Amino acid sequence: MSRSCCKAIYFNVVAFGVVLTTLSLYVYYGSTVASCKTTISDVEKPVMEKPIVEKPIVLVWFTPFGITFDFNDCGKYFNITSCTLTYDKSLYNQSSAVIIFHKDIHGNLMNLPKEPRPPFQKWIWYHVESPTNTGKVPGLENLFNLTLNYRRDADITVRTELMTKNYISREDFVLPPKTKLLCWIVSNTVQATGTAIRERYYHELSQHIKVDIFGSGFTANRLPYEAYFSSIASCKFYLSFENSIHRDYITEKVNGPLKLNGPLAVGTVPVVLGPPRKNYEDFVPGDSLVHVNDFPDAKSLAEFLKRLDADDNAYRRYFQWREHFSAHRHPVTDNHKYLKAICTACDYSGRNRDYRVIPNLHKWYFG
Ligand SMILES: *[C@@H]1O[C@H](CO)[C@@H](O)[C@H](O)[C@H]1NC(C)=O
Ligand SMILES: *[C@@H]1O[C@H](CO)[C@@H](O)[C@H](O)[C@H]1NC(C)=O
Ligand SMILES: *[C@@H]1O[C@H](CO)[C@@H](O)[C@H](O)[C@H]1NC(C)=O
Repeated sequence: MSRSCCKAIYFNVVAFGVVLTTLSLYVYYGSTVASCKTTISDVEKPVMEKPIVEKPIVLVWFTPFGITFDFNDCGKYFNITSCTLTYDKSLYNQSSAVIIFHKDIHGNLMNLPKEPRPPFQKWIWYHVESPTNTGKVPGLENLFNLTLNYRRDADITVRTELMTKNYISREDFVLPPKTKLLCWIVSNTVQATGTAIRERYYHELSQHIKVDIFGSGFTANRLPYEAYFSSIASCKFYLSFENSIHRDYITEKVNGPLKLNGPLAVGTVPVVLGPPRKNYEDFVPGDSLVHVNDFPDAKSLAEFLKRLDADDNAYRRYFQWREHFSAHRHPVTDNHKYLKAICTACDYSGRNRDYRVIPNLHKWYFG
């Protein structure tokens, strides 16, 4: 009897739904279910119990990158539903962790939480820039309990997986037609005037070999997604130069641009400048790339690339890794990546409740 009550009203709601707005439908349907439940519980036991499990609250103190995320997306994209993320600062006292985005911290620390920290609460230092591009903020050394960073020795590491092992079958790989030897996508601000290591290396290299630059005149991250990949695919080699050299600082993100994974995914050999070769090989097969450190100077590198240009068999050896691995174009945006970091941190702090302090953040990060 109570069932048919629910059904009848439900159908009414569906009929009304055609003319109702989504919001009022939700409200109407919600109250309908509630009133039916009362009827059910009079007669029989309630069908559904309210979940008793308390999810830990994780407070996101700033809006990192100025983006307001919809935290329901943690479940939608990453299957993370073990915790509750919020921007609501009034939940500070109940929050088991607070994610604090480094770039938004004032030099005087005045915009950090001021109220006493509950004994169970952990502060998470969230940062994605390399140490070279990071301002040291005095007073942060002994504040945090967890680090959220690209480094593999961070408490919570966020990286995009560059490759997967081909366990089942190898994909047929067809080398895309090549119209250029060596390319670089770089923003105009970096290209001409930079004095950083990658600009210096580029200038020397360009004395000995032609480098096709595209993306100039506008920032590289405005190159449309598809144009970006087809441009890289048309080059035999691509300069995957990091802006600074640090352990694990091997960028793989889509924009900025997608330095290492882009060429690997489309069938172009990355020429990398960054941490030592060994560190790259923690992430990708060693025979998939050319490392500038393998050569005494830019001139020798240029000569090597020209030799490979003339020797197709030698060039094709750089794609042998494809018999065991696949590289994927990551259809992710920066926003997606930042959200993933926050969701991952939330999940982590829900599962790891142990006491933890970082004795000296600066020593850990800046060495
Ligand atoms: C989502 O996570 C739960 C456990 O947290 C797991 O049981 C389920 O299989 C996962 N679903 C997917 C699609 O990965
Ligand atoms: C949090 O708790 C402190 C006492 O430890 C209290 O002074 C403060 O008002 C509380 N803040 C909020 C936002 O509830
Ligand atoms: C978090 O770190 C602070 C500062 O080092 C420390 O005082 C606090 O006890 C730590 N809390 C937890 C839960 O680890």
